[in-house]
Amino acid sequence: MVSTPLRILLISGSTRDRSTNTAALRTISALAPEGVEAPLYDGLRDLPQFVPGEEPEPPVVQDLHKQLGAADAVLICSPEYAGMIPGSLKNLLEWTVGAADLHEKPVAYVNVAFEGRGDEAVATLRTVLGYVGAELVEAASGRITVLSQMVGADGLVADAETRERLSAALEALIAHVRPV
Ligand SMILES: Cc1cc2nc3c(=O)[nH]c(=O)nc-3n(C[C@H](O)[C@H](O)[C@H](O)COP(=O)(O)O)c2cc1C
Repeated sequence: MVSTPLRILLISGSTRDRSTNTAALRTISALAPEGVEAPLYDGLRDLPQFVPGEEPEPPVVQDLHKQLGAADAVLICSPEYAGMIPGSLKNLLEWTVGAADLHEKPVAYVNVAFEGRGDEAVATLRTVLGYVGAELVEAASGRITVLSQMVGADGLVADAETRERLSAALEALIAHVRPV
């Protein structure tokens, strides 16, 4: 019997080309074990500003709903801008409210900032995830610092210990969604 692969959608809150948050998720995607697909969402920069009740919704928004609907879980990595999550990530999350895309969806986050940084991004992300009714997976969430110098020319985190910790976060989310 062929089992359906588990699908974990990876969402970076950074629109920056050499983003450490995106590098962390790209690395997690590359380390996904067999039987697990962990695609990196690449539509953040193209999402239009949220317009309540817009009909029909723009194709990029319809695609976001589709990708979230197909995901068994979501892993978010986001920088902090001016004391909270970036507006672009908040905008993405606002587009999910009407369709309840994240309602009861297992969601984890990784904060890649140094100790003492990024705490308000985490706090505000948790607030919004609570509002949209996501199931926060604490066991897979936390801080794994990724410095820009840890990211290689291939866009992946090269530091072995950090790669292990990123992989462990994914494994914890997988274990939550598909307990053995
Ligand atoms: C406009 C702007 C505002 C920022 N505000 C904060 C902040 O309030 N708190 C913080 O810890 N870092 C802040 N930072 C630092 C970023 O969170 C940090 O550079 C992060 O590594 C960016 O993530 P990225 O590498 O994925 O793009 C800010 C950066 C920018 C560009």
